[in-house]
Amino acid sequence: MDIIHISAECYPAAKVGGLADVVGSLPKYQILLGHTASVIMPFYHSKFSHSHEFSPVFSGIARLGHTNFNFQVLELLNNQLGFDLYLIDIPGLFDRPNIYSYHDDTERFITFQIAALNWLNQRIGTPDVVHCHDQQTGFIPFMMSKVREYSKFEHVPSVFTIHNGQYQGQFGFDKLHFLPPFHSYFNGLVEWHHLINPLASAIKCAWAVTTVSPSYLDEIGYEMKGMEDLLRHERGKSHGILNGIDAEVWNPQTDPMLEHKFSLKTVDEGKKASKEILCRQFGLNPEKPLFTFIGRLVGEKGADVLPDIIYSISKFNPGEQNILILGSGEKNIEHGLLHLESMFKGSYCSHIGYNEKLSHLIYAGADFLLMPSRVEPCGLNQMYALRYGTIPIVRRTGGLRDTVTDIGDQGFGICHDQCSTFDVIHSMQRAKTLFKDPKAMKKIRKQIMQIDHSWNRAALEYVELYQSLKI
Ligand code: ADP
Ligand code: GLC
Repeated sequence: MDIIHISAECYPAAKVGGLADVVGSLPKYQILLGHTASVIMPFYHSKFSHSHEFSPVFSGIARLGHTNFNFQVLELLNNQLGFDLYLIDIPGLFDRPNIYSYHDDTERFITFQIAALNWLNQRIGTPDVVHCHDQQTGFIPFMMSKVREYSKFEHVPSVFTIHNGQYQGQFGFDKLHFLPPFHSYFNGLVEWHHLINPLASAIKCAWAVTTVSPSYLDEIGYEMKGMEDLLRHERGKSHGILNGIDAEVWNPQTDPMLEHKFSLKTVDEGKKASKEILCRQFGLNPEKPLFTFIGRLVGEKGADVLPDIIYSISKFNPGEQNILILGSGEKNIEHGLLHLESMFKGSYCSHIGYNEKLSHLIYAGADFLLMPSRVEPCGLNQMYALRYGTIPIVRRTGGLRDTVTDIGDQGFGICHDQCSTFDVIHSMQRAKTLFKDPKAMKKIRKQIMQIDHSWNRAALEYVELYQSLKI
């Protein structure tokens, strides 16, 4: 099959979170299954674009509302990614350092979607499937099926994956003219609750909708920012497919970002050496259990409860544990975390910012990874942690529920039900008891490192889904 993925992020070209990891690895595994898969994304003015070479494959002019815009499609040269990567350069809209959070994100991503379809439109033939990811690509299924200009794609299946239903991209009808002309009869297909909503449009128009874990699919029928009815209505064409991980990038035996690589046989030594580096760097005590958190500092991830957890456990159980946080996000959470550093020097530290290399070292050197998420459509961190022999402590929600079983239920992780200081600290106390039993720790580490969460299974599930849509 010829599979086209369209996304705002793709690792390593542009990453904010797990979306990039998925789009940067799923196509590679689909190619290993004998298919053709490529990715189309915007050309951001990032470190990646400045340090790589590209070749223009198409130049075009398209319309956004009442104005024309120029764009160029660039192909990544000397590509080591394992799939073809095409980047759409749109001067004035994407030649900025960040991926999101600009006042004109609506215009930016509509323009990107129009440019992507215009390019595909003039190519000979059609792909077998167009797979779109998250709301930034949410109008593509609608445009492919209802905009006359793109009628060539009317019979091409579109698949839409909801990585995160919290972000819907809605805007007012005053911007309707940004979409290419279509019959007003179809207005309902882009609307949700009196606003234009790309996420709702994708859920209505895609031939199939997927979520990144089966539990998340169940949960969003009850709770997804006002879109529950729509999700229940479209349940028949929806599928929960648990994400995989790129087992080549995330391999403690070969990881170029690790000074001390380790295998199943050398896990204890490898983790000990990585933990020592971390503890030296952050002034922590390598003898004590090391709890970590890596991620966006937002309420969705439960990051707002972290300061309270750190304060309570460090005050009432001083010297019993280390806590290390890596993340960035809401300023009040960042300040709360930084504020505590001077109070609990020697047992707690935060690194505010985004640091890919440090994240690998933390997965390798930590004993436990905290994920108290309120919402977690899949979560990749816990799967990386498992592969690096780090025991996940998770709230039972979404993909965390699907990937982590509590040690009390013959599992390998520690689970709790609420995103609360009490529940998380209770889990941390259980972890500390486990840490005192090196034999049990060793056994669990070996067990979790052998769990196969690679894309092999899910890449096939997606291909089977695409094939089921063929007419
Ligand atoms: P989400 O996409 O909701 O943020 P995921 O668990 O799917 O959550 O993926 C998060 C990805 O981003 C992981 O690869 C994680 O290691 C990475 N990550 C998050 N925050 C940071 C950070 N501050 N520094 C480095 N990597 C980070
Ligand atoms: C989203 C979700 C996260 C998921 C990722 C990749 O960002 O928040 O849970 O793992 O997408 O699908």
